[in-house]
Amino acid sequence: MSTTTTATAQVFDNGVIKQASELKTGDKVFLAPTDRNKDVILDALRPFLSESNLVLEVASGSGQHVYHFSNAYPEVTFQPTEYDTSLFSSIHAYTADLPANNRVRAPLELDATKTEHWHAVSKAAIGSTGYDLVITTNVFHITPWTVATGIVRGSGQVLRSGGHFVLYGAFKRNGKFSTESNAQFDQTLRGRDPSWGVRDIEEIQKVAETEAQMRLVEIRDMPSNNYLLVFKKISLEE
Ligand SMILES: C[S@@+](CC[C@H](N)C(=O)[O-])C[C@H]1O[C@@H](n2cnc3c(N)ncnc32)[C@H](O)[C@@H]1O
Repeated sequence: MSTTTTATAQVFDNGVIKQASELKTGDKVFLAPTDRNKDVILDALRPFLSESNLVLEVASGSGQHVYHFSNAYPEVTFQPTEYDTSLFSSIHAYTADLPANNRVRAPLELDATKTEHWHAVSKAAIGSTGYDLVITTNVFHITPWTVATGIVRGSGQVLRSGGHFVLYGAFKRNGKFSTESNAQFDQTLRGRDPSWGVRDIEEIQKVAETEAQMRLVEIRDMPSNNYLLVFKKISLEE
C-alpha cells in the first residue's frame, strides 16, 4: 500500500531539501521545484541527449529528472548517482514506472569529493570511451565549494573527448548577482550553512579549464534567473 505524507517545514540536510514542498507517495519523493523545471531543462538538453548513448547524472536527488529524461529518450542509457543513499529507493520507484526497454541503470553512490566514487562511476562506463554527457542540476549553490570542484574535476575525468558537461542552476557572472532576489537567495543559503552559496561562473570556468580539460562553450539564460552552462571536454588533438 502506498502512503502519502505532506510536510510544510523546510529542513535542509546535506544539501537535500528534505521537506520543503515535498510530497512522499510510497518511496517516491516529490520535489516541486524539480517538477517545475523538468521541461525547460529537458528542452535545453535535447541537442545533447539526441547525440548521446551514455549519460551520467550527478546528484539525481528524488529521481524525477532521470525518469523524465529517459521517458523522452528511451534509447539513451542513463546512469543516476546520489550522495544521499536514502534516496535510492525513490530513484528506483520512479524508474520502475518506465517501460521495460528504457535504459536507466541502478543508482551509484557518489560523494563528489571522493576519488574512489569517481573511479566506480568511471568503471561503470566500461565498454565505451567514457560518458557522452554529464548533467547536474541545482547542486553547486547548496553544497560546499569542494563538492562543486569535485564535480567539475570528476566530470572531466569520466567524459569522453568531445563530450559535454551541462550544469543548471543559479549562478553569479563576474562576481555579480543577476537579480536582487538571487543576492537574497545567496544570503539565505549562507545563513543556513556558511559553506553554501551562489557560485560564480568564472570561478567554475577556471577549475574546468585548468584542472578538468574542459572549455566553457555556452552560457544560456533560463527561466527564473537560472543559467545553463555548457562545457566541452577538449579532445587531445585540440
Ligand atoms: C537541491 S538537491 C538537487 C537534486 C536534483 N539534482 C534536482 O534537481 O532535483 C542537491 C543535491 O546535492 C547532493 N549532494 C550533496 N552533497 C553532495 C556531495 N558531497 N556529492 C555529490 N552530491 C551531493 C544532494 O544529495 C542532492 O541530491
